[in-house]
Amino acid sequence: MSSSLPDFDIVIVGATGDLALRKLYKALYYRCRDGQLPAAGRIIGASRAELDRDGFIAMLEESAAQYIPDEHRGAEDWQRFLSRIDYTPIDAFDCGSYRGLADRLAEHPDRVRVFYLSTGSKLFAPICNCLRELGLITPQSRVVLEKPVGNSLEGAHEINRQVLECFSEDQVFRIDHYLGKEPVQNLMVLRFGNTMFESLWHQSYIDHIQVTVAENLGVEGRAGFYDHTGALRDMIQSHLLQLLCIIAMEPPPSTDPDVVRDEKLKVLRSLRPITGSDVDRFVVRGQYQAGAVDGKPVPSYRDEPGVADDSNTETFVALKTYIDNWRWAEIPFYLRTGKRLARRMSEIVIQFRHVPFSIFGRSELNANRLIIRLQPNEEIRLQLSGKRIGTGMRVRDLQLHLDEDQRGVDHVPDAYERLLIDAIDGRATLFVRRDELEAAWRWVEPITARWEEDGGQPGRYVASTWGPTAAAALLARDNREWDAGAD
Ligand code: BG6
Repeated sequence: MSSSLPDFDIVIVGATGDLALRKLYKALYYRCRDGQLPAAGRIIGASRAELDRDGFIAMLEESAAQYIPDEHRGAEDWQRFLSRIDYTPIDAFDCGSYRGLADRLAEHPDRVRVFYLSTGSKLFAPICNCLRELGLITPQSRVVLEKPVGNSLEGAHEINRQVLECFSEDQVFRIDHYLGKEPVQNLMVLRFGNTMFESLWHQSYIDHIQVTVAENLGVEGRAGFYDHTGALRDMIQSHLLQLLCIIAMEPPPSTDPDVVRDEKLKVLRSLRPITGSDVDRFVVRGQYQAGAVDGKPVPSYRDEPGVADDSNTETFVALKTYIDNWRWAEIPFYLRTGKRLARRMSEIVIQFRHVPFSIFGRSELNANRLIIRLQPNEEIRLQLSGKRIGTGMRVRDLQLHLDEDQRGVDHVPDAYERLLIDAIDGRATLFVRRDELEAAWRWVEPITARWEEDGGQPGRYVASTWGPTAAAALLARDNREWDAGAD
């Protein structure tokens, strides 16, 4: 494959952090291996660690051994990748420490520069200020901001304001890696590449929609970040609301970044706010207690290293909301996410209405469902009713698989592969615009406010279950239940 990308320098700030080591280099490696990066494309790590290039490469070797299968890492491919790597230590707050970086970038002043800030959002403004002070921001530069941007509407607003004193909005790429996942892209094609679904895609035919992002992992050494963030800010504010936007938006007239983002913004603005005592009725929060995963004991959230003994941070949220517009009037959207749940399973379920009248006996007929599975396996499945072979008129569920057969595919690109390429290429469609981000925070804020003023506690759930019982009750009150998600 020959590359159509411009020559670039990508600077990964936070180069020795967990996300970079687990996801970013791996993503760049695969794109390099598949010939998608131009020969003149450098990857410059920058972080506080006082390493030289060899020390950094040793670190990459170690993480690659863990995260990239050996059979995908041929010696020649890997060496070709390493030849692109450089490293320079910086202290985010000390602009003087960016000299080494400045010297490296000065070697190629005309290249596209991508500053990928894989750090906490408190560092975004200081880093951008130093980049500006040293004159490192060229017209061909972009900055990628990891989520979550801020911890509240006010915080996000302030960070955006400061970043935008250094970069223009079209240079700012706020990442939400769920938008880069293959099935999410596929959902856009399914919706807007077929007349069939779009004509059924509204309240006349849809009963309700569920979005679940369930993890079986716990907080995994990220307590410092997680304990003042929680599931609502970490997952609902970003990933789940972005998924909801892709499900619910109107057909955009093109895939241009602003056109798509305008439609997503309209969805966020139409979300019915959950305020005051409605928060107690429509939002369930939970925190995991000790339990067992695969037969091995795991501690309660409060006993995780770095978590306060009396922490009320929620590790689970389930909620019910509505989108107040013509298409979705009075159709419930149920969102659910949590850590240490029964298993890793992320999916969107579009539950269609029952047939208005059944000539086969209603009990035999299940309503149609479209299931978009993100994890652990990726698939899109349409559940229909069909006839069971035989002389009688017996009905059975039919599962139609609507995605490409992945058997024999050597590697399905990860979300970060797609998003890094887009950032280098300057395509912002799959990144979040400032107004979208702030609209999402605005919607989340009354929920956090209620929790703070109410002083209550999250419901407890045993690790490896599906969350507090109140989550099941949220749907049971509406005569519905969460999809069990077939294995
Ligand atoms: C991140 C969250 O954005 O997404 C993590 O900060 C979470 O807490 C992760 O574990 C989930 O991503 P994925 O792609 O593994 O579902």
